[in-house]
Amino acid sequence: MGIAWIVLISVSSNPVLGESGAQPGDVGRGRHVFFATGGCTCHTNLPGEGKDAPLLAGGRGLKTPFGVFYSTNITPDPETGIGDWSDADFMRAMREGLSPDGEHYFPVFPYTSFSGLTDQDLVDLRAYLASLPAIRRENRPPDAPFPFSWRATLAGWKWLNFEPVPLPDAPDRSEAWIRGRYLVTAAAHCGECHTPRTLTGGLDRSMWLAGSREGPEGELAPNITPDPKTGIGRWSVADLVWYLEMGIKPDGDDTQGLMAEVIEHGYSHLPKSDLEAIAVYLKALPAIEHDLRRE
Ligand code: HEC
Repeated sequence: MGIAWIVLISVSSNPVLGESGAQPGDVGRGRHVFFATGGCTCHTNLPGEGKDAPLLAGGRGLKTPFGVFYSTNITPDPETGIGDWSDADFMRAMREGLSPDGEHYFPVFPYTSFSGLTDQDLVDLRAYLASLPAIRRENRPPDAPFPFSWRATLAGWKWLNFEPVPLPDAPDRSEAWIRGRYLVTAAAHCGECHTPRTLTGGLDRSMWLAGSREGPEGELAPNITPDPKTGIGRWSVADLVWYLEMGIKPDGDDTQGLMAEVIEHGYSHLPKSDLEAIAVYLKALPAIEHDLRRE
């Protein structure tokens, strides 16, 4: 654990807002970022609550190979939600997976992806969340065996699995591709569900978007690289845009599970140019053959 604690100290001493040139948060722009994240849907829609689920009040159980983790209340309630957080607290949570008290979040919260969000998008998202109704609901501890239930273990997890790296410049790529890469890797966090994980639960980046049998809630998230047999190589850009808007696949099938939710509460509200950008980026990925039904 020695090394892990050193990492813990160095992670938490990072400047957060630093000399960020972000303008004050804007609710309208933040709403756009919110939709790009898939509408933070894991924080709502508990089984049995249906359409009456209090928006973003947390408590939804997310089943992982390490146990069940419950999403947190991200409404502006000052006691049970995030109402008394500063922008800097919010940015640190989203980027470094650390609570305002310096506790580690379980990586079921995809800060690993959100770490790629720009300062401006984070401040705007925060402004939008702060404009929503405050709801009182206490957070729930995880149902996970030791050591996965123990937050200090997560310092070691971060050391193994988490290195926020800024997206490299790509001067030879189109604007659509660059926007698509940003949306897919940071905001929309497609990789958190569609990339298989290593034994320690980190994303296996050599298999980027090649599908995972153990997405959140134990769902199978298909291979979305352009492999023609096991991925979505046969889908056109228009097919993908239609899918992210309507949830209908090229063969007419509709979408199930969490993907249906991130479409309904998030991606379907994005401007068409963003959906096209996502499609352009996906079509340009290296095709990886990965048959999730066999193996
Ligand atoms: C919260 C988890 C999650 C996130 C985030 C997510 N997906 Fe999915 N996705 C799934 C699951 C689960 C399915 C399977 C749905 C089904 O069986 O109908 C799926 C299905 C799909 C399919 C259909 C593939 C096929 O062969 O049928 C596409 C395309 C897709 N997702 C693209 C994306 C893109 C692009 C993003 C990001 C913009 C994204 N997904 C984000 C979980 C997720």
